Amino acid sequence: MTPSSKPVMTAAVLTHFGGPDALVLHRDWPRPSPLAGQVLVKVTAAAVNNTDIWTREGAYGLPEDPSAKAAWLGTFDFPRIQGGDVVGVVVEVGAGVDKATVGRRVLIDPALYPSDDVNASPVGYLGSEADGGFADYVVVDATHAYDVHDSPLSDEELACLPVAFGTAMAMLDRAHAVAGETLLVTGASGGVGLALVQLGAALGARVVAITSGSKGDVVLANGATAAVTRDSADLVQQIRTAAPDGIDVVADIVGGDGLASLMPLLKDNGRWVIAGAIAGPVIEFDLRRLYLHNVQLIGSSMHTRAHFARLVELARAGSVHPVISGTYPLAEIAEGQSEFLARRHIGKIVLLPNGN
Ligand SMILES: NC(=O)c1ccc[n+]([C@@H]2O[C@H](COP(=O)([O-])OP(=O)(O)OC[C@H]3O[C@@H](n4cnc5c(N)ncnc54)[C@H](OP(=O)(O)O)[C@@H]3O)[C@@H](O)[C@H]2O)c1
Repeated sequence: MTPSSKPVMTAAVLTHFGGPDALVLHRDWPRPSPLAGQVLVKVTAAAVNNTDIWTREGAYGLPEDPSAKAAWLGTFDFPRIQGGDVVGVVVEVGAGVDKATVGRRVLIDPALYPSDDVNASPVGYLGSEADGGFADYVVVDATHAYDVHDSPLSDEELACLPVAFGTAMAMLDRAHAVAGETLLVTGASGGVGLALVQLGAALGARVVAITSGSKGDVVLANGATAAVTRDSADLVQQIRTAAPDGIDVVADIVGGDGLASLMPLLKDNGRWVIAGAIAGPVIEFDLRRLYLHNVQLIGSSMHTRAHFARLVELARAGSVHPVISGTYPLAEIAEGQSEFLARRHIGKIVLLPNGN
C-alpha cells in the first residue's frame, strides 16, 4: 500500500439475487473504517447459514407475491457482503471506543436492533442490511463485539454460534419450553437443528429429533433421547413410539407438509414454534387441529440482545459444543455453499478469510 492508496481487502460480494455466480470474489474491495462508536474486526472465521443462501437467491417472497425475489425485509441494497456469523480480532477502534479493545478476540452479535431494549426484536442483520463477515474485515458497533478471549472454544467453533444457537435459544424461549417437557426438533442435524437438540437437552427436555439417513447417531450423541427418520413412511408412528405421552413443543425449522401431519401429535396447550421453511413455505393445514386443542403457533425470527448475552456466557463457559462439518478458505465460498446445499453436512460449515 502506498501512503495515498486506500486499504483494500478480499471480500465475497453479492451483486444481485441469483445462483452461486451472483457472489463475486474481489481481492481489492475497499476496507471499511470504523466510525465513532464502531470497531474494525479482522475476521478469523465466518460460518455459512441457510439464510445466506435464501438472501442470495432472493427466496423470501413478498406478502402479495410469495414467489417474488426478495430479501427477508423485502428490499435489498447491492452490492452487499454477506455473513452473519463472525468471529475475529479488533484491529482498530473509532472515536469514543476504549483503545484497550484493540487485540481482543470478539464474537459479533449480527442482529441490528431498533432500540436499546434488551428484548427488542431485530430489524436487520449483518450480511443483509449491513456488510457482514464474508470478507477479511468487517465494521460493527462496539456494543455488538462481545469479548470471548477466555472461551475454550476455537474461532471456528465460536463462529457457529450467533445465527444457529441464537435462533435456537430464542425459539425455545418464545415457546416457553421447560425441563421435563417433550420437545420435537425438525431438521435436527443442521445448524439450527443441532443447536436446538443441544440447548433443549441442556434445558432438561426429552428431545425427539427428526433427521435423515445415517445422521441419527450424531443427533443422539448431542443429547437427543430418540432419533426418528423423516424419510421413512412410518414417521408419525416412530414419533408416537418415542413420545407415547405426546409432544409439548415442536421446534420446527423445516415447515412444509409436516406441519399438517405432525400437529395432531401435540398435547393440548402444546406450542409449535417455527423459524424456517426448508421443506416448503406455502402450505395447507387443518385449523381445527390447532384451535380445538388450544395449540399455539409461534413465529420466531433471530434472537434478542438478552438471548445473545446468554449465548456469550455459554460460549465463555465452554458449555456449548458446536459441531463443524467442514471448513473452506473464503476464496472457496462457492464450494462451501454447494456442500451446504447438498445437505450431507452435520452441524456447520465455516469459511476462513485472511488466507487461513
Ligand atoms: N428465523 C430465523 O431467525 C432463522 C435463523 C436461521 C435459520 N433459519 C432457517 O432455519 C432453517 C435451517 O437453517 P440451517 O442454517 O440450520 O440449515 P441447515 O444446516 O441446512 O439445516 C437444515 C436441515 O433441515 C433438514 N432438511 C433439509 N431439507 C429438508 C426437507 N426437504 N424436508 C425436511 N427436512 C429437510 C436437514 O436435516 P436432516 O437431514 O437432519 O433432516 C438439514 O440439515 C432454514 O430454513 C433457515 O432459513 C431461520
